[in-house]
Amino acid sequence: MAALILETRGLTKTYAGVTANQDVDFALPQGQIRALIGPNGAGKSTFVGMLCGRIPATRGTVLFDGKDISHLPAHKRIALGIAYTFQITSVFAGLSVRENIALAARRAGGDDARVDEVLARVALSDRAEQTAGDLSYGHQRILEIGMGLAQTPRLFILDEPTQGLAESEVAEFKALITGLRDTTILLIEHNMSVVMETAQFITVLNHGEILAEGTPDDIRANSHVQAAYLGTEDA
Ligand SMILES: Nc1ncnc2c1ncn2[C@@H]1O[C@H](COP(=O)(O)OP(=O)(O)OP(=O)(O)O)[C@@H](O)[C@H]1O
Ligand SMILES: [Mg+2]
Repeated sequence: MAALILETRGLTKTYAGVTANQDVDFALPQGQIRALIGPNGAGKSTFVGMLCGRIPATRGTVLFDGKDISHLPAHKRIALGIAYTFQITSVFAGLSVRENIALAARRAGGDDARVDEVLARVALSDRAEQTAGDLSYGHQRILEIGMGLAQTPRLFILDEPTQGLAESEVAEFKALITGLRDTTILLIEHNMSVVMETAQFITVLNHGEILAEGTPDDIRANSHVQAAYLGTEDA
């Protein structure tokens, strides 16, 4: 079995009495595409926020490459190779597409050499000089994915990247994700076709705790998951 790139132990977040994550023990092998699913409010964004260092944990440990990064600030985690895209679109609207990607590359300590490669990969080469704020919503989300890739991440965390995308853009997203090599992916996703077609393994969060983990077939067949989640989803 591949080495673990990421592990959490007892990871817990309490917001003024609301427990968003409760003792989450999570392990992600290097190279895997993992989906993190669960109903609204299950604690998915809070969990990845603690991985990225954007949200301080109430208690528990985050290990990256076996090293305790629990107390590292977000920018140091980026420098280690953890990239993430937000649930809310967060491109720099006044900058061009190319400048957004170049900025992301530099943020991770890289140079601009990858910019053209990334533009091609996310099919935005033709729009490289456009102002990001003028792009369609779907293209802004795709630009965000490009910004993540420009960081040459070892672990790429995406929070609902396909939300609001057109069907053709969702199809491109699936191809993009499954075509990435050497990148471990943690994907929060509500669209079940994306989950089932891209993920090798799925973790289900419910009420801040891991309800189930398994292959797409395991999860599809799990009656607890169906009761908590799949039965209530529209996808
Ligand atoms: N800053 C905050 N202050 C107080 N409560 C919060 C805060 N952020 C999240 N919560 C609460 O923590 C719980 C988990 O929220 P979180 O956003 O992590 O869920 P989620 O699984 O990402 O949901 P969604 O699918 O809707 O994005 C919810 O009950 C939410 O209301
Ligand atoms: Mg969320």
